[in-house]
Amino acid sequence: MASPASVMTQPNEFVQNYALLTDEEADARIEAAKEKLGDRVVVLGHHYQRDEVFKHADFSGDSLKLSREAANSAAEYIVFCGVHFMAECADILSRDDQIAILPDMAAGCSMADMANLRNVERAWRELSEVLDPDESITPITYINSAADLKAFCGRHEGIVCTSSNSEQVLTWAFGQREKVLFFPDQHLGRYTAWKMGIPLDEMVEWDFDKPQGGLTAEEIKNAKMILWKGFCSVHQMFQGVHIDNFRKKNPDGIVISHPENNFEVCQKSDHVGSTEFILKTVREQAKAGETWLVGTELNLVSRLAQEMKAKDVTVEFMSPTVCMCSTMFRTDPQHLAWVLESLVDGKVVNQVSVPADEKAQGRSTLERMLEVSP
Ligand code: 13P
Ligand code: SF4
Repeated sequence: MASPASVMTQPNEFVQNYALLTDEEADARIEAAKEKLGDRVVVLGHHYQRDEVFKHADFSGDSLKLSREAANSAAEYIVFCGVHFMAECADILSRDDQIAILPDMAAGCSMADMANLRNVERAWRELSEVLDPDESITPITYINSAADLKAFCGRHEGIVCTSSNSEQVLTWAFGQREKVLFFPDQHLGRYTAWKMGIPLDEMVEWDFDKPQGGLTAEEIKNAKMILWKGFCSVHQMFQGVHIDNFRKKNPDGIVISHPENNFEVCQKSDHVGSTEFILKTVREQAKAGETWLVGTELNLVSRLAQEMKAKDVTVEFMSPTVCMCSTMFRTDPQHLAWVLESLVDGKVVNQVSVPADEKAQGRSTLERMLEVSP
């Protein structure tokens, strides 16, 4: 049955015909609808999706891998079990006659919401009081952002990055201009730049609630990296002390984290990388008897822990409290059944459609990203 929160603001058709289905009923209907649609539909599933949805995905991956799947898919319908910005990317990168669908339109990303076109354009204007931003700053938006921000980067010769190509993208960006404005995730920007040898004192934090980001003209002129003060509400739960406690109990234990974690967590980890990197590294490198501590969302970690038991590897979750991505969690089997059965009936519900001008500008930045990606 769909959770009460995910029913509250839903269309009547969903509430009346799907919200009360049991997961088993929804499963059977998803499978039947997929069978009828055949290769007209592809279901993409991000690694943070809950098991009940994840098992229906034709392809799973991190943001970069799923963007590539969307760009290469021949299917008429791309059903994205993830969050809104991911479905927007699928729409931007796919052909014009393909349709991107998000099973629950309320599945957003709280980090993406920390930057919007209004406050980014204001930042650009305020920066222009100190220097000529189009001459000296490359804007980089993390893929966790709305399509209009990708379009903004397109207009200003900027680029998009994901957690698996941030180093290559930063290298490209510094090849264009001397400074970078990186939004919305300060942590990914800071850790990537630091790893590339940029000292912390050449990085400043842009507080989007303050005039001129809360910075002096001197601070802006001296900075190489201007980091937007955004963060992920899920990853902020992981702290350096969790790693210290783990290492006390498991001196030979191995720690792996997502780069949306804070700087201390990233620095104290043995490996840092995207969700796909985390899975690949544990699967390929973990040896029987080892214990791994993983700093990323709970659904991914629980599935990995279950899988690695067969190899006698213990996988632990980094935080003592439960931290799931509540917006990823909104996608449930009931919503998936609804969008798929609607397609069988010849009706598209929950289409994510980026306006044509944003699509063209966003596409150039995403394609540039795919070109520089490993
Ligand atoms: P990945 O691209 O590593 O899957 O990250 C997406 C995300 O939102 C992590 O919080
Ligand atoms: Fe956004 Fe954080 Fe959820 Fe990733 S885990 S989708 S960054 S809120």
